[in-house]
Amino acid sequence: MAEKIIIDTDPGIDDAMAILLALRSPELDVIGLTSVFGNATIEVTTQNALRLVELEGHYGIPVARGCDRPLVVPLGEVGTYVHGEDGLGNTFPPPPKGKPLSLHAAQFILEALRRFPGEVTLLALGPLTNLALAVSLDREAATLARRVVIMGGAAATRGNISPVAEANIYNDPHAAAIVFGAGWPVTMVGLDVTTRVVMTPEYWERLYQAGNRVTDFLRAITPFYQRFHDQFYGMKGATHTHDPTAVAYLLAPECFEAPELSVYVETQGRCMGQTVVDWYGQWEGMPRVKVCLGVDAEAVLDLIYDRLTKPAEDVEDETPLD
Ligand code: BDR
Ligand code: CA
Repeated sequence: MAEKIIIDTDPGIDDAMAILLALRSPELDVIGLTSVFGNATIEVTTQNALRLVELEGHYGIPVARGCDRPLVVPLGEVGTYVHGEDGLGNTFPPPPKGKPLSLHAAQFILEALRRFPGEVTLLALGPLTNLALAVSLDREAATLARRVVIMGGAAATRGNISPVAEANIYNDPHAAAIVFGAGWPVTMVGLDVTTRVVMTPEYWERLYQAGNRVTDFLRAITPFYQRFHDQFYGMKGATHTHDPTAVAYLLAPECFEAPELSVYVETQGRCMGQTVVDWYGQWEGMPRVKVCLGVDAEAVLDLIYDRLTKPAEDVEDETPLD
């Protein structure tokens, strides 16, 4: 049976690719999307979440709007410099047909966990505010979730929003501390692996050759993301693969090396958002999480390519987009 997942997300160009990858993966049953601020404001990320479920006609997948700011620290700059003002590379697509649920994302998550105890995986692709809120409202959530897979953090590598912090953790460090400490089974898919899965300009071109609705959409939104990677990292048209690598972990965990370690999240000061790993087991009383440290990047890239370029099995609406 397919694994039920809720994707908590701040789309976002790489979120878009991750969501489309999950929707094209028969091993996963996407039962809902929950939006969060991050790469853009909550208004923008919620609209994008709706657009993404609608892209290949998955109108039945609900979207619940979530938090518009971090739990404690003030809302900082959203990531439009990486993803565009519209979160989709300044392509400004038409508005979605659907609307978000009236239920808050945290409430949606709790209802799903209670309805399917032990069955639902939470895949977090943005700041962890909605998940932290859910488990703070009801501690039982930690025993009800099947697992929590997080794109976020940096264990033994540099940060991407500060010298030590990865953006999703930095954008709400208190939420991250709650989620890492809640005691549910967590996997951290951080920069240690996501920056090693590199999509070269040739890879992107090969993907675009498929000419399907998803790859055409990616062709439109990705140049902005490529320009950011070039300006900041000098990557000459190549990009890191953050959020899709977390989906790849769900599909092919054998491609990852992920030892169980404790992770402390720094919530203040210059190192705010740093995920500090207890490499030698010296800190007592902290839950262990799986920390992805190694990845077979080629296998992950092949997997993503295969899924996005094959004809989709359950596309509900084949009519071309405007
Ligand atoms: C993470 O931050 C966001 O910009 C991306 O969507 C990804 O989730 C990478 O640090
Ligand atoms: Ca994201």
